[in-house]
Amino acid sequence: MLYIRNLTYHPPATPTPILKPLNLELAPQQLGLVIGPSGSGKTTLLEILAGLAQPTSGSLFWREQELTPEHLQQLAGLVFQFPERHFCGGTILEELRLGHPELGSQRVYEALEEVGLADLSLQTGPHALSGGQQRRLALAVQLIRQPMLLMLDEPTAGLDWSMRRQLVNLLGKLKADWTLLIVTHDAGDLLPIADCCWTINHGELKAVNPATLQAKAVEPQALV
Ligand SMILES: Nc1ncnc2c1ncn2[C@@H]1O[C@H](COP(=O)(O)OP(=O)(O)O)[C@@H](O)[C@H]1O
Ligand SMILES: [Mg+2]
Repeated sequence: MLYIRNLTYHPPATPTPILKPLNLELAPQQLGLVIGPSGSGKTTLLEILAGLAQPTSGSLFWREQELTPEHLQQLAGLVFQFPERHFCGGTILEELRLGHPELGSQRVYEALEEVGLADLSLQTGPHALSGGQQRRLALAVQLIRQPMLLMLDEPTAGLDWSMRRQLVNLLGKLKADWTLLIVTHDAGDLLPIADCCWTINHGELKAVNPATLQAKAVEPQALV
């Protein structure tokens, strides 16, 4: 269980806080969805949860264990927005093993299997994959590290309708084994697979019921 308690982020250079005191709880094998417009603080929240930025105040816990940024770097996996832009391996195998040369072929196979890419040759170049396959590979790159919390920043951005649907199906399946936190400005496709949901606006997080959002099919901007 992930607990975020009164977390804030207010760099000295900014006149107002980027994240206002926020509280969030996410149970294992649940999919949490944070919906907010551009500039609302979604990526900043994920950077903090991935241990890449230090919160100004507040605390993070996994069960009773308080988490430092170092713990978070180890325990959390973040799939950046447009992750394919950050590929640097020459092959799928190199991409998966970057930073983890010790990982054996079983772990490589399992990670690819989980995202439905196990049939591809490990020697394929990441840039030769389709857009949807590249997103799946970026997920496998995090899953191979077996993260306690898997986070995705705008996972459906830039994908066409059919690729989005495939990716959403995959994310819905992954929550059987993993705990996911997804942030997006465009919740439409993702609402049906969300177990819990928040809106964020100007760094202020509010819990909402995903079923209510789905029933109303309201534009996310109208909700915040
Ligand atoms: N390190 C930083 N210093 C100053 N401002 C920042 C910093 N990081 C993000 N911001 C600002 O914080 C706000 C939230 O940004 P971001 O988390 O990227 O929003 P989102 O992902 O929802 O689009 C934006 O106004 C952005 O310009
Ligand atoms: Mg962002």
